[in-house]
Amino acid sequence: MCGIFGYTGGSQAAAIVLEGLRKLEYRGYDSFGIAARGESIQVGKKQGRIPEEGFDIKNLAGTAAIGHTRWATHGIPDDKNAHPHRDCTGKIAVVHNGIIENYALLKRGLVDRGHRFSSDTDTEIIAHLLEEVYKGDLLAAVQAVLPLIDGSYAILVLAEADPRIVAARSRSPLVVGIGDEAMFAASDMTPILEYTRRMIVLEDGDVACLTPAAVEIYQKGSRVRRNEEIVRWSSEDVRKGGFRHFMLKEIFDQPAVFSDAVRALRKEELPGIIREAGMVTIVACGTSYHAALIFKYLLEEQCRVAARVELASEFRYFPPPLEGLVIGISQSGETADTLMALELARLRGCPTLAIVNVVGSSLTRIADASLLMHAGPEISVAATKSFIAELAVFFHLVDIMKQGAWAHHLDSAHRAIEEALLLDLGPAVACCSQAKDIFFVGRGAFYPVALEGALKMKEISYIHAEGYAAGEIKHGPFALLSPETPVVAVCAPGETYGVMASNIREMKARGTPLILLGEKDDRDLQEIADVFIPLPSADTVSGLLSASVILQLLAYHTADALGKDIDRPRNLAKSVTVE
Ligand code: AGP
Repeated sequence: MCGIFGYTGGSQAAAIVLEGLRKLEYRGYDSFGIAARGESIQVGKKQGRIPEEGFDIKNLAGTAAIGHTRWATHGIPDDKNAHPHRDCTGKIAVVHNGIIENYALLKRGLVDRGHRFSSDTDTEIIAHLLEEVYKGDLLAAVQAVLPLIDGSYAILVLAEADPRIVAARSRSPLVVGIGDEAMFAASDMTPILEYTRRMIVLEDGDVACLTPAAVEIYQKGSRVRRNEEIVRWSSEDVRKGGFRHFMLKEIFDQPAVFSDAVRALRKEELPGIIREAGMVTIVACGTSYHAALIFKYLLEEQCRVAARVELASEFRYFPPPLEGLVIGISQSGETADTLMALELARLRGCPTLAIVNVVGSSLTRIADASLLMHAGPEISVAATKSFIAELAVFFHLVDIMKQGAWAHHLDSAHRAIEEALLLDLGPAVACCSQAKDIFFVGRGAFYPVALEGALKMKEISYIHAEGYAAGEIKHGPFALLSPETPVVAVCAPGETYGVMASNIREMKARGTPLILLGEKDDRDLQEIADVFIPLPSADTVSGLLSASVILQLLAYHTADALGKDIDRPRNLAKSVTVE
């Protein structure tokens, strides 16, 4: 959700912050804004996305600035609700990512004490609370106000007469970048990588003071030291690199992502708790949840380890009786539901493991042990390469549990992804782009692949799509099948191939257009299909990878054919840091 970015250094800050906000826009794009500190605090903000040109920053002079790109929670997306927010005097400005749960109570008190509000946001209360205690020391004022606030926040604050940017976090991510005579603070590393790879990931409760020359960090009022990390990601990783959309670039990154992930995992010290686990519970959301469902199939079928997968948002409130290892899977490592689910498992005394893409993310701080998926930064809201990297982690774990029996799959599977990238999906795209509803079906480990295909399609093309276990279609959804409702079916060879073929014939009998993914020499499927898409290789590992990639591309090209804003689908944002 929302992205925040601050800079203090020797250059005009507003221009640097505006460029940084462009890189953070994937976290939210309802509105954006900047406050710069020159002789006074000046603010520019606007509803909507950051335009390529035409947003005037001439009035935002100064060498320290904070900015925000918004995913609306409190108050509609309009100019007045855009951050930064100021106090009554206009001398203090705040940007905030998170939710202040007791804001209504605090606001009533502030209004009673005569404060005038100019927005409907929860954030504005912070500026007014600071106004009440600010006596020329911004750090002291922030430290006095934070204990009044319940909820989650990463904030950056500027005050007219104070030379610092003050940053603070609690349950929302915040990273400090250490530059050459410049300091940065942001929701994630993406806007900072342009300037430095030296990062400090702040911890919950940290309050940091940034000047161009130094960063000082305080916890509970006392100065603390935090380790600086040199991150591997580069600024190239967060550029489109010639592709029209980040999503397409990230889809095409996947052969390398898969190989790199496998290579890196082989060097990694794997936590012993995985080997010792008798029962595994996995919590995750969205795409990571679908990947986790595949992991369950692999663990049970290949390793005979009992596994269950829970939607993190449900698990948090309705946890099953718990035993054994609990794994949280999350690309961002910041998804609120997954964080809370893993925290609950930890409090119940279960050993916990985090599988994440972002080094130092919150999930790694909760878990007893962590594994990195090594996908590199994922910018597109629609997750693709993190899904493939999650599969790489799972295949690798299965390989370990099977004592190296999958090593050859791991070494060669990137080729199946490469071949999938070359397929002509034109006829399938033509069929899907005319549809109002699409079913995606599969069986076994290919059922979650179908779920993920449907999620990708609805997320970026806005076509209603549902993923189903193929055998379930006849228990209700059959009523919806018609010549206008295509079915995309993944028909991998294996135990369920025969029943899958029957399911498909039953659908065909209702006049449903069939887009079938199957083994390339499968004559039967080719005959029955309206559109046949050959799976480059159909063994479990390559089949899962290539079918996933094909469905990502199908969604991408369908959305592109319909002219949708692929990297910024409506109403969505990348990391979902609110419940
Ligand atoms: C999928 O394309 C999504 N944008 C979304 O479902 C995402 O996978 C989900 O929010 C979980 O994110 P995480 O992996 O960062 O926890």
